[in-house]
Amino acid sequence: MTAQDPFAAFKAVQKEAWSLFTPMEVSTTPTAAKLVNFAGVGAGLRVLDVGCGTGVVAVTAARRGAKVRGLDLSPVLVARAREHAELANLDIDFREGDAESLPYGDSEFDVVLSQFGHMFAPRPDVTIAEMLRVLKPGGAIAFSTWPPHLYVGRMFALIGRHLPPPEGVASPVSWGDPKIVTERLAGKVKDLSFEMDMMTPSALSPQHFRRTMEATIGPMIKLVAQHKDEPEKLKSLRAEFEALISEYFDGSSNVMRQQFLMTKAKKM
Ligand SMILES: C[S@@+](CC[C@H](N)C(=O)[O-])C[C@H]1O[C@@H](n2cnc3c(N)ncnc32)[C@H](O)[C@@H]1O
Repeated sequence: MTAQDPFAAFKAVQKEAWSLFTPMEVSTTPTAAKLVNFAGVGAGLRVLDVGCGTGVVAVTAARRGAKVRGLDLSPVLVARAREHAELANLDIDFREGDAESLPYGDSEFDVVLSQFGHMFAPRPDVTIAEMLRVLKPGGAIAFSTWPPHLYVGRMFALIGRHLPPPEGVASPVSWGDPKIVTERLAGKVKDLSFEMDMMTPSALSPQHFRRTMEATIGPMIKLVAQHKDEPEKLKSLRAEFEALISEYFDGSSNVMRQQFLMTKAKKM
């Protein structure tokens, strides 16, 4: 890839932007177990976690006895993932890398997973081709993604309205639409199925949750940084964001209600 490659430039920004994600692992830990259960990960299976972040899915799978590898764009998060594996006495091969160009051989894995990870690679066709290339025929692919019409999907739409992505970069939340996912996997997989579930991050108020998002979610960090010298614009953007959060904030238990989609299928 050359320095002019718009996708390489986009990924260079993503790599930096996601480096502050670590505090969110508290919320992605319970959903990691849901994905690992949904995918049927068991002892001895060779598992890949794409966009592993701090390794919550990888560690969960390894604790079930799977032989696990994990890959992420962010070296900061990969370092954190290695710490988690060490703490739990697990031997997991974590490395820095790109979902669009996986550094593994054909058919190397029995299961390929991604929790809110592969959806952020810019080209869905390239990414899914790579994930299926490293999966053995008959192996399981499973991922969790955010539907476009629910909270996280609408947050990414808000970000996209104020900070449009470069041309050719697909919306990450298109991976949360079963119709689009079905089209993307058509002719490549069998036994395709979907399931909805819920993540419930805690917060004291919509304002607190907005602040957490601004400190941890790569694209949101970029958006706020972009408007740092425009206080009025930033104020109205924050008001818009807090109004959205308020629709999903449940003050009776101080949690956000964030529904997500799980997809699973077998490679043909
Ligand atoms: C929302 S976080 C999810 C992290 C982790 N899977 C979890 O559930 O906690 C998104 C992750 O995708 C990674 N990511 C974004 N684009 C990527 C790409 N092209 N290749 C690999 N990882 C990528 C980010 O670095 C980040 O760690």
